[in-house]
Amino acid sequence: MTKIKKYLSKSDKFRNIISPEYANYLQQKDRKRKWKKKVKQKVIDTLPLRLAQKFNTYDFSKFPEKKIHSIFMYGKTGTGKTVACAYYYVEFVKQLYLQQSAFVKTYNFVVYSKLMEDLQRDFATSSTIMKEYMECDLLVIDEFGVKKLTEYVYDRIYLIINERYLSMLPTIINSNDNLEEILNKFDDRIVRRIEEDYELIEKK
Ligand SMILES: Nc1ncnc2c1ncn2[C@@H]1O[C@H](COP(=O)(O)OP(=O)(O)OP(=O)(O)O)[C@@H](O)[C@H]1O
Ligand SMILES: [Mg+2]
Repeated sequence: MTKIKKYLSKSDKFRNIISPEYANYLQQKDRKRKWKKKVKQKVIDTLPLRLAQKFNTYDFSKFPEKKIHSIFMYGKTGTGKTVACAYYYVEFVKQLYLQQSAFVKTYNFVVYSKLMEDLQRDFATSSTIMKEYMECDLLVIDEFGVKKLTEYVYDRIYLIINERYLSMLPTIINSNDNLEEILNKFDDRIVRRIEEDYELIEKK
């Protein structure tokens, strides 16, 4: 940014004499710069360690910069589901940050086995852990799978998905199982919600 622009964007006195659109443009530009220089890496560091360490080596050039909504991504192993979810996770926080609300928001990238552990350890529906999963602004569940799913955990996960659906909070799930496989193993509650509200993406 040139010196004069920097001055204009910082000074209240001069902000009053430039148009709101231009002030907004400068502010936005400044936040984009801060995001790239300082904030992005902090967000990446909240991902599971392996992903965080490799994040900057991935190629995201073909990924859209669109508003994040609920997604159910399925496909065979090694097709890039986890990496894609990490991208959406960071992109979500970026969008919030550029709207200036990132620091009052919460986001959670959880690997399914960890989620299961949390849910099995935890019996009260109103507990902090359940609340965290039900109420965070973005929840990513990596490697959702029906194989080791017990009825109890299924109910808990349904509860999380349903609460988030009712509150219109985005949830991104990836799985080796497609919806038919989930449907065959359990009742149709989770599948119904997903079909109603999520974008389905098959990774190939
Ligand atoms: N956008 C990308 N840029 C560069 N490399 C990638 C990208 N996406 C995936 N890869 C590579 O492919 C590998 C597999 O990707 P990923 O772990 O996301 O697959 P997955 O579908 O989650 O697999 P699994 O079902 O086994 O969990 C990664 O370790 C990474 O090296
Ligand atoms: Mg994976």
